[in-house]
Amino acid sequence: MISDCKTFVAQEGQHWRNHDKLNQFLRASGYPGLIEREAKMKADYDRYWKTKGLKWCVGYAEGFETLGPIIACYFLEAAPELDKATVNDPTADLWRWHLAEEYEHRHVANYLFHKLYGSYWYRLWGICYSAPHMLGYMIRTGLYMIEEDRKAGRISDVWRSRLRFARMIGRLAAYIVPRVIASLHPRYDPANLPAPERSMAVLRHAEQHWGKKKVVAA
Ligand SMILES: [Fe+2]
Ligand SMILES: [Fe+2]
Repeated sequence: MISDCKTFVAQEGQHWRNHDKLNQFLRASGYPGLIEREAKMKADYDRYWKTKGLKWCVGYAEGFETLGPIIACYFLEAAPELDKATVNDPTADLWRWHLAEEYEHRHVANYLFHKLYGSYWYRLWGICYSAPHMLGYMIRTGLYMIEEDRKAGRISDVWRSRLRFARMIGRLAAYIVPRVIASLHPRYDPANLPAPERSMAVLRHAEQHWGKKKVVAA
């Protein structure tokens, strides 16, 4: 369990470092409002850590990590738009790699939560507060970025863009809601979730294409 927790922390630290690099690039590329949004998220987490207590924080992490493998499976198996040639390849690679690792460490927060607290109802409460917090933030930030794209003329047909966004949200909700409901079962064990088909291929691709570059750059 301790070694799983160390791997979990190392993977999440790497996710943060790589997403921070992407965010630096995005902030400088016409999305200045990201600074405020990132600061809000950081302030939320600082407040949770300082005022809510360890049980609440582990409950949040468990709820958040319950969504992790579900969203991983969605991105890797049910989001064909990510494979289009028009999608920026390093960005899509970053998300695929991140989510493949989310699948990989899917059991850690759940097992830790049960080891420390083992409360079925508190686990449900963790999902109820972490899911709207994270998904709401994600959707609001997506809408903000689309708005910047529209203002800068990067989106020519606004209504088509809105329709595409609404369709994506509908598809995402139809995918995740039944899986989140299944995860509420008292005997839910994330270790039993089937692997997304491309999971290992994505990790191999990240290692081959980006791991080497990291070594060269270092
Ligand atoms: Fe992560
Ligand atoms: Fe994670």
